[in-house]
Amino acid sequence: MNNVVRITVDGKVIELPVIVGTEAEHGIDISRLRDQTGYITYDPGYGNTGSCSSDITYIDGEKGILRYRGIPIEQFEQSPNFVEVSWLLIFGTLPTAAEYDRFSQLLTNNAMLDEAMKLHFEGFPKQAPPMAILSAMINTLSCFHPELQGPESDDGFELAAARLTSKIRTIAAFAYRSSIGAPYNYSDPNQPYVSNFLHMMFSNPYAQYECDEEVRKAFNLLLILHADHEQNCSTSTVRMVGSSGANMYASCAAGVCALWGPLHGGANVAVLDMLDQIHKGGLSAADYVKLAKDKNSDVRLMGFGHRVYKNFDPRANMLQKVAEKLLTYLGKDDPLLKIARELEEMALSDPYFVERKLYPNVDFYSGIILRAIGIPTSMFTVIFAIGRMPGWIAHWREQSLMSSKISRPRQIYTGPPVTDYVAKSER
Ligand code: SDX
Repeated sequence: MNNVVRITVDGKVIELPVIVGTEAEHGIDISRLRDQTGYITYDPGYGNTGSCSSDITYIDGEKGILRYRGIPIEQFEQSPNFVEVSWLLIFGTLPTAAEYDRFSQLLTNNAMLDEAMKLHFEGFPKQAPPMAILSAMINTLSCFHPELQGPESDDGFELAAARLTSKIRTIAAFAYRSSIGAPYNYSDPNQPYVSNFLHMMFSNPYAQYECDEEVRKAFNLLLILHADHEQNCSTSTVRMVGSSGANMYASCAAGVCALWGPLHGGANVAVLDMLDQIHKGGLSAADYVKLAKDKNSDVRLMGFGHRVYKNFDPRANMLQKVAEKLLTYLGKDDPLLKIARELEEMALSDPYFVERKLYPNVDFYSGIILRAIGIPTSMFTVIFAIGRMPGWIAHWREQSLMSSKISRPRQIYTGPPVTDYVAKSER
């Protein structure tokens, strides 16, 4: 296979190098296109544009493949351990026992927030969107930890990564506790990552939350399946912000804002709202599918479709199994799961969805699991952010170490031609 392509621009033939990835993906390197031709490329939404090369995650959208540092996500199913996968994504290899113990201890030692940060929670209205609080408080962390924000030294970076991976749980739990007027629960140093978070969310002065082992395993796997997804909107945002030299907290706070949107991480809340609306009798599943196909309605089948997966989203398949197993184990019969299955069956046999290759994505079943665990719908996208944090940290570091160039796309200007200023008295 040639490692160049030739294109003819205004009668001039130019050669552009081809970059070939590990799995033989091919990319045309256009970094010198404008110098050679005066032309730029045009790709709104970047559906055909590679912004970088990366060693972290591989997706094959046609085959439904997702691998973290080469390991297929299906292999994390048996003994899910989010801390281990976080290390893998951030540092590139599965942790040795010593690395795992050291990182786990760092997570334990850095779960608490500066007491002054509690004043910020009280400053938000009770019904404030938790994603707004999360992004604000992650940014606020940089006010309390100005020293450790760069990828320079491994030790310093490892501590900063542990701080962010650990404290995002505490911020999320404190935001929830404050929204219901309940006392904060401090981190329990004797509990592992997930059950410690659920303790901070749900323990009360009169009753300690006891994390069921099956819940702990299901939540670990759910966080793992959200941990990274190459250049999705929020991760690209983290890389873009980081490319200006902004610190890791500011870059990840920007990632939280991008994830919030209903077309991205906010879809898990929109899925539950959709299922709930159908359950409450507002619309039947068939009505909803009909609306989602109607271009005149602004309705979409939330939790369906994906920019990259044009076959099944492997995470959705795994999360459906987790949902079924957990609800059975807990003896819960959630009518929304039945509606979700009904919608999936309808859509997968409907030419509109089949022709557009629209399949359930990671957000379609995740909410059913979170609901079974007792997480309020308003917190679903926050949970997505907790899962995605190691991926954001990994990409921020990779971008910071790989490139010193600020990301700055070009545009095609379509505004007015040159014109003159008109004094106010003459307008
Ligand atoms: C995530 O990028 C990532 O990796 C993201 C993510 C991650 O882990 O980071 O995987 C997480 O964000 C998953 C996606 C969650 N969002 C949703 O579930 C919202 C519903 N889905 C969509 O809005 C949509 O499918 C997107 C945003 C996910 C993808 O949009 P694209 O690739 O830009 O596709 P498109 O909007 O151009 O749609 C192509 C066609 C259009 O119809 P036509 O104009 O060709 O007739 O498919 C239709 C769309 O109208 N379509 C849908 C649909 N999704 C696309 N029609 C009805 N319901 C839907 N859900």
